[in-house]
Amino acid sequence: MSTIDHVDFFTDPSVVANPCPYYASLRAGGPVQREPHHNVMVVTGYEEASEFYRANDNFSNCVTVTGPFPPLPFEPVGDIGALIDEYREHFPMFEHLVTFDAPKHTAHRHLLKSLFTPRRLRENEEFVWRLADRQIDEFLAQGKCEFMTEYAQPFAVLVIADLLGVPEADRDAFRVHLGAQRPGATDTEQALTGNPLEFLEQKFSAYLEQRRREPGDDVLSALAGAKFPDGSTPEIMDLVRLACFLFAAGQDTTARLLTSGMRILAENQELQKQLRADETRIPDFVEETLRLEGPVKSDFRLTRQATTLGGVDIPAGTMLMVLPGAANRDPSRFENPDEFDIDRPNVREHVSFARGIHTCPGGPLARMESRASLQRILARMANIRISETEHGPADNRDFEYEPTYILRGLKRLHLEYEPVE
Ligand code: HEM
Repeated sequence: MSTIDHVDFFTDPSVVANPCPYYASLRAGGPVQREPHHNVMVVTGYEEASEFYRANDNFSNCVTVTGPFPPLPFEPVGDIGALIDEYREHFPMFEHLVTFDAPKHTAHRHLLKSLFTPRRLRENEEFVWRLADRQIDEFLAQGKCEFMTEYAQPFAVLVIADLLGVPEADRDAFRVHLGAQRPGATDTEQALTGNPLEFLEQKFSAYLEQRRREPGDDVLSALAGAKFPDGSTPEIMDLVRLACFLFAAGQDTTARLLTSGMRILAENQELQKQLRADETRIPDFVEETLRLEGPVKSDFRLTRQATTLGGVDIPAGTMLMVLPGAANRDPSRFENPDEFDIDRPNVREHVSFARGIHTCPGGPLARMESRASLQRILARMANIRISETEHGPADNRDFEYEPTYILRGLKRLHLEYEPVE
């Protein structure tokens, strides 16, 4: 039994606090190997992770979000492609794009094209730069902030609301219902939060039905009029779910990326100086943060038919898990992989946005949000540092990470700084 056999990736608090020792020990046993607690084949190698993401004929996305929990709705015997199709609606989040397989996936992913047009992205980018300053205005004068709730969460919600063309008058409600209140929100506002998914479904159903009846020249009308590649018209609910999923996929991830980036910057005054002096290096900083602190901690697939991955036999019915954070630290791809180095020549080669047909369509948006945020924060907040009152001294920090195997990210980040007038 190796030392790693004692650690259960899915529940062990030590993996939440710092998954790196687990990743390294696991990889030492081979880039594709079985973990003993939940009978999951784990992929930690870089090449093997890329292969995992591209082998869509053999691997189904039906389990992608939660993996072995809850257990499979059927007994996996022999080739299971037909069973997956039969039990599709028993898998978590089966209504959402990320769990679809081709050909349904291909058809629904095509619907996103109405949103990610060059014109829409340009307009959205202009909004993002304005929003970054507006968000900073909310707390700048305090000289301190809790970055996750005061900047990252509301910022990420409002960017997606803008991308989808949510009317200005409704945006505060989105912020409140999606758990990103204004500082000092009243109890009534807090109580309003309710079930965010219900709120989103209700709002987008109403928007899209109205736009189908009376199309205009706005983003929601473009979405309401989107067609499948064969020219057929999707149900309103298909579009509503797509819109809702953008919030699910793009809010917490981006907020955690921003917060991780700020933690790294706040610990390194030299890096702050370097990026302030040369803003063109900010994108490399973002890439290196994605490599070492990518917000997606695990991604799952279910094996339809017997195959191999990285030369290892994978029987049909096998649950596979890729750990992007481990693949991104594979020493055969990244020299001195645990070092944060914005000058590494292959800084953009991480797998934090996946590969293949499910590659994150929000990757360019998340990168742009990060660049705009960091540029404006560095310009308006000097001498950014970690609050020692909240997180302890430099040699003994106390950071709390989200207690989940799905995402990697801080719960809170308390910062101090001098406002730049
Ligand atoms: C740092 C931020 C983000 C990270 C690290 C991230 C990561 C990922 C990853 C790894 C996947 C692939 C999942 C799989 O193959 O099972 C994915 C899919 C997806 N992401 Fe992102 N994402 C981020 C931000 C966003 C944003 C801002 C949006 C949109 C507003 C978005 C929308 C989506 C969608 C719609 C999918 C499903 C694509 C498909 O299944 O074809 N993501 N993301």
